[in-house]
Amino acid sequence: MAKLVVITREGDESVYEAEDGLSVMEVIRDNGVDELLALCGGCCSCATCHVIIDPAFASLLPEMSDDENELLDSSDHRTEGSRLSCQVIMKDDLDGMIVTIAPED
Ligand code: FES
Repeated sequence: MAKLVVITREGDESVYEAEDGLSVMEVIRDNGVDELLALCGGCCSCATCHVIIDPAFASLLPEMSDDENELLDSSDHRTEGSRLSCQVIMKDDLDGMIVTIAPED
């Protein structure tokens, strides 16, 4: 099973087991990290699951949809590595991926 490294807004780092097929948002939420609000439950309509992903994994990530891109544009904290964590599904290739929870908008 892949491991996911999560860094909170305060800089605390934790490593979680990430079951194949779960979204990054679900892994973070299911491990009790409540600063990732994920208000829409993963249907790509709220942008409160914004994370910054380590650029080393960029080529392994699923392509961004227009909806995700537009929602990220609404954030003041968008960076090159920004993704909505509900749109990134875990798989073995992503083992060791580092995600940082983006500042709140
Ligand atoms: S949980 Fe709402 S967009 Fe990801």
